Amino acid sequence: MKSTWVAVALARKIRRKPVKIWFNDQPVVLFRTSQGVQAMLDRCPHRFAPLSEGWVTGDAIACPYHGWEFGQQGICRKIPGHIGDLPTIRVKSYAATEADGVVFIADGQPDDPPHTHPVAEGDIIIHHATNHSNSTLPDTAENILDATHTHYIHKGFLRGLNNKRFTVQVAVTGGPGWVEACYTGEDQQQGIVTKLLEGTRTKSIGRFRYPGIVELEYWSDKGITLGAAFHLRQSRPGLVDGIGFSVGPRNGGLGHIKGWLFKPFLHIGMHQDRQILKSALDNKPDDPKVKPVIGPLDFLREDIARIINGELPRAAETPRQIEMEL
Ligand code: FES
Ligand SMILES: [Fe+2]
Repeated sequence: MKSTWVAVALARKIRRKPVKIWFNDQPVVLFRTSQGVQAMLDRCPHRFAPLSEGWVTGDAIACPYHGWEFGQQGICRKIPGHIGDLPTIRVKSYAATEADGVVFIADGQPDDPPHTHPVAEGDIIIHHATNHSNSTLPDTAENILDATHTHYIHKGFLRGLNNKRFTVQVAVTGGPGWVEACYTGEDQQQGIVTKLLEGTRTKSIGRFRYPGIVELEYWSDKGITLGAAFHLRQSRPGLVDGIGFSVGPRNGGLGHIKGWLFKPFLHIGMHQDRQILKSALDNKPDDPKVKPVIGPLDFLREDIARIINGELPRAAETPRQIEMEL
């Protein structure tokens, strides 16, 4: 599969002191040198000590056990006590870069710069958040995009307290590496967040992008009022790590206030979701042959799975128009 950037940490959290993360079920150490952020397998090839328990010296990281030093591309540049030429030894290294305040790493060298969030242009304000859930990547991605749980899990918060529903139109479209659902007719929603953050809503879009990016866009008649991107990765089996961007136009300071208001709300919402995702995972049947039911309103689920597998989503060939009550 093609090499792709994956968001792994907030840039401000990565300094000289090594930090351990999990990436595709492998331990990876991140640290910063004058060359920028470095990413290597967090396992010294000598006796497998974690490099994240070592220290940065110059542009290299030193292993805590026998002090071997690994520099650019993970090449061993020092074996303390050894006299003469160094044998060729290296630890696996990853490509690393930073964009919009987030560190991205890749296995291999991707052709394109990382995709960060959906509001690419204009005078914008970005806020970041991190999150993790005991779940799977498709389940977490679907949870963020699924509007039908919000009436229950986020009652009174993203949705009104009364149970009134309105008919909305959903257009599901897709292409190579993405699928989206565009909702129109939703302007009467009554949740606190909606009231705080938006004017008249004309449409909202939920999108999934390869390899694990969930994007939300809220549009008013004046354009996009709020965008969010959640970069998810299955860091370990049963564990999904996420890095979020919330992005909006600055609007002479209003965008800033909105961004900060958004943050605690995001945390409450994520906490509510984390709990139900964990309960559902813990309650999953042991028999892998028992599959979850794909309901008539789970219109993104199969396409999310296809995209994660590197396949073209069905919506790319067969766009759909759905009417439902929200
Ligand atoms: S285990 Fe790393 S130097 Fe020996
Ligand atoms: Fe949710």
